[in-house]
Amino acid sequence: MINLTIDGKKVEVPEGTTVLEAAQKVGIEIPTLCHHPDLTPYGGCRLCVVEVEGIDTLQTSCTLPVNNDMVVHTDNEKIHNARKFILTMLFNERNHFCPYCQVSGGDCSLQNAAYAEEMTHWPIMPDWKPLSVDASHPFIVLEHNRCILCRLCVRACGEMIGNFTLAFEDRGGRSMLVADQGVPLGESSCISCGACVQVCPTGALIDRWSAYQGLTTDVEKTKTICINCSVGCGIEVLSRDNRLVRIEGDWDAEINHGVLCDAGRFHPMVEERKRVLTPMIRKNGKLRAATWENAYSEIVVNLKPLLKNKDDSIAGVISTRLPAETMHLFKQIFTSNFNSSIVTTTEEDTLTATISKLAEKEGMPFEAKLADLHKADCFIVLSEDITKDHQVISFFIKRLLPCGAKLITINSSSDGLDNFTHAAIKVNLKNINYIVNQLRKPIAANKEKLSAILSDLDKTKDIEKGVFEEAVKLIKAATNPFIVYGGNPTNNEDFITAIWKLAKTANANLLSTKGGANSFAAAQFHLDVPLDFNGVNTAYIALGDEEPSQILINKLKEVPNLIVQSSYISPLITFANVVLPVHNWLEQSGHYINLEGKMQKANSALTALEGAHCNTKTLKILADKLNIKVSDDWKKDITDRVAISLIE
Ligand code: SF4
Ligand code: SF4
Ligand code: SF4
Ligand code: FES
Repeated sequence: MINLTIDGKKVEVPEGTTVLEAAQKVGIEIPTLCHHPDLTPYGGCRLCVVEVEGIDTLQTSCTLPVNNDMVVHTDNEKIHNARKFILTMLFNERNHFCPYCQVSGGDCSLQNAAYAEEMTHWPIMPDWKPLSVDASHPFIVLEHNRCILCRLCVRACGEMIGNFTLAFEDRGGRSMLVADQGVPLGESSCISCGACVQVCPTGALIDRWSAYQGLTTDVEKTKTICINCSVGCGIEVLSRDNRLVRIEGDWDAEINHGVLCDAGRFHPMVEERKRVLTPMIRKNGKLRAATWENAYSEIVVNLKPLLKNKDDSIAGVISTRLPAETMHLFKQIFTSNFNSSIVTTTEEDTLTATISKLAEKEGMPFEAKLADLHKADCFIVLSEDITKDHQVISFFIKRLLPCGAKLITINSSSDGLDNFTHAAIKVNLKNINYIVNQLRKPIAANKEKLSAILSDLDKTKDIEKGVFEEAVKLIKAATNPFIVYGGNPTNNEDFITAIWKLAKTANANLLSTKGGANSFAAAQFHLDVPLDFNGVNTAYIALGDEEPSQILINKLKEVPNLIVQSSYISPLITFANVVLPVHNWLEQSGHYINLEGKMQKANSALTALEGAHCNTKTLKILADKLNIKVSDDWKKDITDRVAISLIE
């Protein structure tokens, strides 16, 4: 440990700590502009300067490591004069005419620093040249005039996301932030994660959907989780007057440490679907508004006789976007009481179901944790383009590649990792089990055997031998390989067994991406049978706020009596007999089990739409009206299938 003194306070910190971190530890605030705790220190803005006894010049505290017996001052005239000078230069360089900037009034670190230094005017006549504004991106506006060249965005794009879209061209005051080789941001390799916007200290990079809708002081912030996929990233929902203003990554979230993908950050901002405003009942072929009481009565009249039948004339389908509490009730009503064997999720029979079946057979889950991914030195990504779904996993992988990690992809067509991979094995998904099994053999074999295995590769499977050999070499050389797999290849069970064996042979960690936010919970509740409505007369669909797939719509068209619990108008409504309006994800709370078995609570961030009911409450009332007794102990039942230990 290192002992030093900052502003007269004794501080003890581990070796390698910076003076800035040591000061923060004892509650001493030092202003910064180019620093972010999750990024490599850069030392560019120099606002964080401090005086160290024995050193003539002021030092940047964000890059200065602590030393034993160091005596540091953060608050004296020399330091404040230096900070004022730095700020003056920054204001002089570009147009920071604050009243016209969307972050002015509290959300701009530059303006805040100027107020802290009691600056009332620009001491030097500004020397601005008008710069362009790049509004080519669907979610982001790049306002070069407000840029202070701090490079936080460049480092976030590279170090957090591994995308390296942003860079600077030219030097000094002429430096310009550019995307790729200088193309408009909207035409660049940007993947719309928004990390650059979240770290930008000024109004240079702004979220175009929330611009001018309220400063941080005007909005309410609710910590919750994104439910757009099974990763379960932590988010902060910013709202004003019960209106969604912006979604930001939660820097404190264990899973994603602040990074989000476009689906988590921006897509909810452009929701255009219309809400279901009232319960509806179909009468004489037309859906008409009804009271909740009448809608329930209609459902009870339809469902009560089926309780006695106890056959498959009724099916229940629930969205994996709904909380575990809702799924648990759904299962009790439709599986335990109607005794239907067609009680499943909107995902149908996907990989998650097969994984759970295999894990059940083995009596244990056999997958790794997301945290293990950060320690891997070789990634094998199979059968899913994780740059489209479960994207944050691809960020974790891409950002480790410049540090020497290797990447092998095995997929049927081009995918977003093609530009990053060291060996891309393209294979017809029908042959994926064959490839996985073939990979395993040379990993276990010696050099001589490898050439024999290569020459034995089935010519009909169209495998590039050079790429295959490279993949084998990379896996063999790795000390900490990690396999990520997903999608929905055919022969799921054989596929997973083959991957499992490969992981054992290569001594690799294994993680499947699964499907929606609560896909794992659904599988644990056995809500994972194939969607087959043959012979079904009545279907109850707890859709929540999910957009139904065309496959689901086509299948349900054949069912004579359809009851839909939905937040939004969708094609399903056009042929439903009863429709119940329910809360969307921002209005409800409940628990989710992510792809690694981590249990998280989603918190409601907005007051619910008047007239809509909570999904869980809707099912509870229905159970009550059908005289069905239900239990609330979902935590007990969720570990029944495979004894997963839920990480809380
Ligand atoms: S949105 Fe993401 S990918 Fe695009 S430039 Fe910003 S950090 Fe890079
Ligand atoms: S755009 Fe923002 S984050 Fe990027 S260099 Fe300019 S001020 Fe810094
Ligand atoms: S990776 Fe999944 S959970 Fe994370 S922000 Fe994207 S959609 Fe949401
Ligand atoms: S915050 Fe230290 S140099 Fe910018």
